[in-house]
Amino acid sequence: DAGKGRYNHYMLKEINEQPEALRQTLNGRVDLENERVELEEFPEGAFEGVDEVHFVACGTSYHAAVYARQLFHDRGIPAQAFFASEYATINPPLGENTLTVAVTQSGETADTLSALRRAAGKGGRTLAVTNVVGSTAAREADDALFIRAGPEIGVAATKTFSSQVVSLAMLAERMAEDRGAEPRADAARYLQALSDLPDAIEQVLGDTSAERVASAYADSLSHFFIGRGTGHAVALEGALKFKEITYEHAEAFAAGELKHGPLALVTSETPVFAVLSGDYDEKTYGNMEEVKSRGAPVIALTDAPESVSRVTDDVITMPETHEDLKSLLANVQLQLLSYHAASLRGRAIDKPRNLAKSVTVE
Ligand code: G6P
Repeated sequence: DAGKGRYNHYMLKEINEQPEALRQTLNGRVDLENERVELEEFPEGAFEGVDEVHFVACGTSYHAAVYARQLFHDRGIPAQAFFASEYATINPPLGENTLTVAVTQSGETADTLSALRRAAGKGGRTLAVTNVVGSTAAREADDALFIRAGPEIGVAATKTFSSQVVSLAMLAERMAEDRGAEPRADAARYLQALSDLPDAIEQVLGDTSAERVASAYADSLSHFFIGRGTGHAVALEGALKFKEITYEHAEAFAAGELKHGPLALVTSETPVFAVLSGDYDEKTYGNMEEVKSRGAPVIALTDAPESVSRVTDDVITMPETHEDLKSLLANVQLQLLSYHAASLRGRAIDKPRNLAKSVTVE
């Protein structure tokens, strides 16, 4: 327990370690002067021939992959994200130049290793994106990219999600360059925002809104999370975190899918958290209206509180950053929300019932 320092839980310590973890993740990898990403693991042109990326991952790492899929698409790289536990069943065909990327904090998750081995067995090229040097995934994959977040003890992954997304964001840039893509029109602004992300997260950590909101909606029947694009990836992660450590029902929906079924669940007892990622926010405002008119409290996570006041009951305001990174800041707020909600309920936050940090059986 000495390792917890001044915090009551490893989870809170690790949430607060994110600025430092990200500084390590980014260290020496973003070259602002030449407006490019430099990953020392890979020689120039290493990804030249890659024409498609398949992510395989579980749990929080899967959500990092869903987030990253959009960043790869933005750079013209076809990408798909698979639950590693479904990979054998879905059995996606591998093109000659498909790169299978296992995203795994521990590098030991059995389902993920199994998917990785399956892809390798078909002759596919593999890459592990992991926190643990010397892990099975790092050893078995053709290549490894280390996220350098430092050890994570809390069962619920927090800082490693942020470091995974940022590592994958940098990988997307490197791959785009190797594939001969045009540099991003906003390269300078984007790379600056990546470098400044640790400071932006520090600002988020200084805000107490999540704790207030956790207690305001503590008696709810269920917590719902909605978003579009990267906001949907973070909604999924927000709901997973909430379930894992509060033992309460929580669920995420793609904002536009609400009307195709989930809306039937919405009442005054189901607060809806909207992650406004900048991806078609206007449409999400419409979805927020849909739930608000059914009596559900709506809580927006946004950097533009004035534009949402009409459709919200509560706002968690974030500092401004590049559009592609906004949802990462919202994710930190949702980590804090889950933490405080679990703390109010007296849960075993670092070791939630029935869960393990690394699941080594399929
Ligand atoms: C377990 C943990 C999750 C984690 C998942 C994947 O289920 O409880 O927090 O996201 O495994 O772990 P990995 O080490 O592969 O990222």
